[in-house]
Amino acid sequence: MTQTTCRHLALCSRAEVEPGTAIRIEKEGLTLAVFNLEGEFHVTDDMCTHGPGSLSEGCITGEVVECDFHNGAFNIRTGEVVAPPCMVPLRTYRTVVDDEGFVSIEL
Ligand code: FES
Repeated sequence: MTQTTCRHLALCSRAEVEPGTAIRIEKEGLTLAVFNLEGEFHVTDDMCTHGPGSLSEGCITGEVVECDFHNGAFNIRTGEVVAPPCMVPLRTYRTVVDDEGFVSIEL
């Protein structure tokens, strides 16, 4: 029988990400965007699936981030494309904030 174990990768302190903003974190070969949606944390790949845009530098409106390269947009919670020219959904990560305020993802 195979068992899958998940491990947590700590990214940052919640205090480092102001509400309504995002920061880019590079760790263990991943380049990630950590979003604070009014106290709810979400993590996605930072690179836009359409090209070289960095989504942590995009414009956040509600739960949508708009890439500042060609204005494609994604739902931050689900990774779903909400505006072209993006076609491929964004990878999202299961995100946990622990009692000490550290934001981690499950891998
Ligand atoms: Fe993001 Fe084109 S690189 S929309």
